Amino acid sequence: MPRVTFEDQGKAADFPAGKTLLSCALEMGIVISHVCGGDGACGTCRVEVLGTCWDLLTPPTPDETYKELEAPYRLSCQAKLIGDVIVKVAKVE
Ligand code: FES
Repeated sequence: MPRVTFEDQGKAADFPAGKTLLSCALEMGIVISHVCGGDGACGTCRVEVLGTCWDLLTPPTPDETYKELEAPYRLSCQAKLIGDVIVKVAKVE
């Protein structure tokens, strides 16, 4: 199972492939904004992907490209696990 590490929170756990980063974060007890409830609409659930694990998440969805989100940022409600990733909660300005 892929391992998710939230470096800024000092937390890591294993989850099944295909699970969204937002679901992982919430199960880990990490506070991450998700105003629209995971519909890809609000843009508040951003995470920064650290290191070289960009390709270990599913590709950006139209909701993300429409918002002109670019590497290293993803919407955690849209990004699903493929392999081990290291991320941190991004500040939304
Ligand atoms: S929770 Fe709203 S875009 Fe992810």
